[in-house]
Amino acid sequence: MKTIITGAGGLVGGVLSRRFADSDGDVLALRRADLDVTDAAAVERLILMERPSLVVNCAVLGVDECERDPARARAINANAPRALAESANEVGAWFLHFSTNYVFDGEREGPYTEEDEPRPLSIYGSTKAEGEHAALAANPRCVVVRTSWVFGAGKRSFLSTAHSELLAGRRVRAIRDTWASVTYVEDLARRVEEILALCVGGLFHVVNEGVCTYEEFAREAARLVGLDKEEAAPLIETVTESEMRRAAMRPRYTPLRSVASAQLGLAPLRDWREALADYVTNHKI
Ligand SMILES: NC(=O)c1ccc[n+]([C@@H]2O[C@H](COP(=O)([O-])OP(=O)(O)OC[C@H]3O[C@@H](n4cnc5c(N)ncnc54)[C@H](OP(=O)(O)O)[C@@H]3O)[C@@H](O)[C@H]2O)c1
Repeated sequence: MKTIITGAGGLVGGVLSRRFADSDGDVLALRRADLDVTDAAAVERLILMERPSLVVNCAVLGVDECERDPARARAINANAPRALAESANEVGAWFLHFSTNYVFDGEREGPYTEEDEPRPLSIYGSTKAEGEHAALAANPRCVVVRTSWVFGAGKRSFLSTAHSELLAGRRVRAIRDTWASVTYVEDLARRVEEILALCVGGLFHVVNEGVCTYEEFAREAARLVGLDKEEAAPLIETVTESEMRRAAMRPRYTPLRSVASAQLGLAPLRDWREALADYVTNHKI
């Protein structure tokens, strides 16, 4: 089975490329320099030539960059998944695409399931919602996985580096008034493999169990690297989302839950604290 992965230089794309290569070997892991997903002609040419059985799209334009460049946001987050899904369909391939909790506005209590209607607050959220819809419409063998606050080795982000920063005695700024599900990229990848093995298309939420703020995440990371509360306190500066003055609005409360996975007999993923403990144990530096 041949697999093409786009956006392979990123967090999710990197992990999936490694895991797929480990399990079946025939993987074309493409970074942006190898394939620009906004070049629909190049996308079609490559897929028709390679004739994969699975195309995985991990390319994305980040949350704040989308506000600064809405045309690029739409090209990468909405038009590219449509073109990839269409070309995959031409060769009878499955198409796997990723989306986000930021398709929701977070104004409601309780977790969001696949049955809830998107109400995005940002250009990132609206272009991602458009991309999901376009991909599902373009290919009957399409899986869209919505995930949230992903952490793991290979990305310099707050969630991925908080534990090593704290261990090194460096201060972190942690937001205290925004809640979401968090997801360990290795758990995400494993669940994606399970969904693909079932050959069932559609929309799936994939996150670790539980919900937290960045502040709670940082405090747990500090505990896991052996800092007690007194040692951690001066290292964790808490701020509000508005104090961060970021370009894009973030939803306030967007935990995800999956009814679609439950219907397939897939149990919820482990709690985020357990997943974080695993990550910290394996990536101390
Ligand atoms: N990380 C999270 O917290 C999170 C949360 C929810 C959903 N997701 C979803 O998960 C998926 C993967 O996210 P990620 O965190 O792995 O992203 P990432 O680490 O930012 O990686 C994205 C990759 O896309 C590449 N890219 C950008 N524009 C491209 C283009 N025109 N053509 C080809 N490649 C391009 C980037 O290359 P350059 O580095 O060269 O620009 C980068 O390697 C996305 O669909 C995202 O919406 C992620």
